[in-house]
Formats: sequence, C-alpha cells, structure tokens
Amino acid sequence: MRKNFFSGIQPSGRLHIGNYLGAIKQWTALQDSYEPVFGIVDYHAMTARYDPSEMQGRVLDAAASYLAAGLDPERGIMMVQSHVPEHVELAWILNCVTPMGRLSRIPTFKEKVRQNPDNVNMGLFGYPVLMAADILLYRSEIVPVGEDQVPHLEFTREIARRFNNTFGETFPEPAEVLSSGARILGLDGVDKMSKSLDNCLYLDDTDEVITKKLSTAPTDPARKRRDDPGNPDVCNIYSYHKVFSTPEELEHCAEGCRTAGIGCLDCKNILIEHMKELIGPIREKRTDLLARPEELRRILRDGGERARPIARATMAEVKERTGVAFEGTAG
Ligand code: TRP
Repeated sequence: MRKNFFSGIQPSGRLHIGNYLGAIKQWTALQDSYEPVFGIVDYHAMTARYDPSEMQGRVLDAAASYLAAGLDPERGIMMVQSHVPEHVELAWILNCVTPMGRLSRIPTFKEKVRQNPDNVNMGLFGYPVLMAADILLYRSEIVPVGEDQVPHLEFTREIARRFNNTFGETFPEPAEVLSSGARILGLDGVDKMSKSLDNCLYLDDTDEVITKKLSTAPTDPARKRRDDPGNPDVCNIYSYHKVFSTPEELEHCAEGCRTAGIGCLDCKNILIEHMKELIGPIREKRTDLLARPEELRRILRDGGERARPIARATMAEVKERTGVAFEGTAG
C-alpha cells in the first residue's frame, strides 16, 4: 500500500508559474510512490480576516487551479480541511503538549503580528499546531513544502517527539522535501515571483497578457539598442529559457544575444510561444472546471470520504494513548 502524506494549500489567490515549478510539479511526481492528501486548508485561512460569502468560491477556485495544473484526484486525495473534523480534534490534543514560548518564537507568527497588529488572534498563534495536526493525522513521513515552511516542519517534529515521549511512540517525525526543481525570479528580474509584487505570469493569463507581460519585461540592462551585444547570463528572460526552452533554442538565443545577431524581442518570442503552450491548456481546463462547480464539489466530497477513515484510525490510537476514550469508543 502506498503511504500517505499531507500537503496543505491555502485557498487564496491565483497560481503562477513559480508555484507550478515549485510545488505542483513536485507533487505530481510524488503521486506515483505515495497516496498524497492535498488539503485545502480553510481553517487556516480563517486566521486572517475574510468575507464568509467568498470562502466557498475560494475553495472551489483553489481546487480548480490545482486540478488544472495536474493534480490527479484518482491517484491522490484532494479534500477540504473542514470536511474532516479530526484535524481540529488532533490540534487540540497537540495544543496540550505545545509550550507557548515555543510558538511565540516561530518567525511566521512574528511576521503576521507585524503585518496585522490589530488581528492577533489565538488561531494565528496556534496556526503551526493545526498544521502539525494536518501532517501527523496522516502519519506523514515526508511533506513537500516551500522553504518558508521549514520552521513549521521543525516545530511539527518537535511536537511529534513530545507527544511520543509523553504518550508512547505514535507519530513518525516528518521530513520536509524541498523542491529540487528550477527556480525563476519574477518578471522584474529582481524578486521571487509574488502576487503582492505584481511580477507574475499566472496560470490563467490569456495569450495576450502573456505576450504583453513578456514583451515588456526587462532583459540585460546594458543592452540598450538592437545592435548592442548582450550578456545572456545577466538576462532574466534567458533564465526562463533555461527552464522552458530546448538546448538548440538556448544556444540560438545565447549566441544571437552575444553577437547582436537577434534582438531581445526575437528571443522573447520563442519564450512567449512556450509559455502559451504551457499555460493555455491549464487555463482552459481551469475555466472548464469552474463552469462545473458540482463536479468540483463531488471531487472534494469524495476526497473527504477517503481521508476520513485514515484520520479516524489515527485518532482512535491517539485517544487510546491519551486515555480520553473508553475502550471501544475511540473510533
Ligand atoms: N502553512 C502552509 C502554507 O501557508 C499551508 C499548510 C497548512 C500546510 N497545513 C499544511 C502545508 C500541512 C504542508 C502541510 O503554505
């Protein structure tokens, strides 16, 4: 039987090609050897202020995006965190082995407090505990995450260890798996791709938008005129080519740039075609899925039903070990 692991997705915002290269490609690769549980973490999303009338839409939007980008709900489980109440049940029990001082030192918490000093709620403080519960509920041995989540994984291992020491060996200590794939910067060539910086190519951008964004993106700043030779090694567009183009195209662009044989726009046009080929089918599949919300709900309901027995089995053992259940009532 394939082992499970849990990975969480915030139901927020559009996905960009940075997400695609980082998380999604890696997850789809792991679908072969594991049965992953992809949770749309709506309870985590509640730690920031939000409009309740938008939550359902955000969840369906996230589901459509990840399915369109290649997550297979047959080979993995795609579910909504709030559909499996065992997540919060385990989080409570883990709360009771979590020192408050340890939580207050988590960098993401400190950052959120700085960003939103008027909304420092208990949920935000306990965010990492709920995340640890997500992970441990499925006895995950690995968790694919981005670099920014590493402190949460360290915390999760610590809490697993504390629980095991107090109540007996129950949880494996999960290791983070960071994406080994290529990283690209945002279109500005300065920062990593980020929604808040408006430097993204989104997985639902139209062909016109893709063309416009790439044709106006900066290249080698020293190459001011078409006749100036350029240096591909300092060109952000060339760094995209390295990820998306063929070796022949790479050679063509590098050589053409250094000798001023081709202009930046010629070089960009090759990339624009590749991006249209990558994004087009994802965008269409997403639109198609969003037009069928019933189908999305069916997939999510089915995911919840498949996740539930795994979660229940863990909770039965946890209740047994912690002594909160009478014999025969733990499940
Ligand atoms: N904190 C993660 C993020 O913001 C989301 C998340 C919640 C998660 N639970 C998880 C990620 C469990 C991995 C495993 O991206």
